[in-house]
Amino acid sequence: MDFYTVIPSTSELDCSILVNKSHRLEESYIPPCLTEPNILFDAPSGDPRRLLSLPVVRASEKLFAAGREQGIFLYGISGYRSYERQKALYETRLKQKEKSYVDLYLAPPGASEHQTGLALDVSCPSVSLQLEDCFASTTEGKWLASHAPLYGFIIRYPKNKELITGYGWEPWHIRYVGKSLALYLSLTGLTLEEYHEHQSSCD
Ligand code: DAL
Ligand code: ZN
Repeated sequence: MDFYTVIPSTSELDCSILVNKSHRLEESYIPPCLTEPNILFDAPSGDPRRLLSLPVVRASEKLFAAGREQGIFLYGISGYRSYERQKALYETRLKQKEKSYVDLYLAPPGASEHQTGLALDVSCPSVSLQLEDCFASTTEGKWLASHAPLYGFIIRYPKNKELITGYGWEPWHIRYVGKSLALYLSLTGLTLEEYHEHQSSCD
């Protein structure tokens, strides 16, 4: 039996919102103003995977444009994912792999940041646009890790933080938290979970 807090759909989502296995979104939650950013995407125009929340649209365009100027060709792979889509993905994966493995890389419905429109999976042509660990060793993966915070994004699931975030290393999953928080987290090495825990202990 999983125990978790449900984030009410009526609450306005702040870009620092914590969504994880312990803090889940309601099935009915759909971010307002989902929009397609003007970035390279491995999904056809009109595909919901291309959608992001409004503040993330501009930030991702700036991040990708800055990369392009430096010869870095990043591709968006997956942005917004509805509750229903996450549920279908999760249930399909459970039929293919052990639950413990599935739970390390795929959020159960309601627990995915992709439902917020604040997360984006990113890859590059040299790894055939795959979402694999080897992305971290590419020029694009290294550039992304060092430059993402300047545009308000963090690498949300770092290496060796599985026990804190609940997920394995995902060098491709970036999460928009706003520039000052992204810089703070990248300088301190804190995860979003640790930041929220610290914030609530100060309340
Ligand atoms: N892969 C991340 C954890 C998700 O499914 O949201
Ligand atoms: Zn992701």
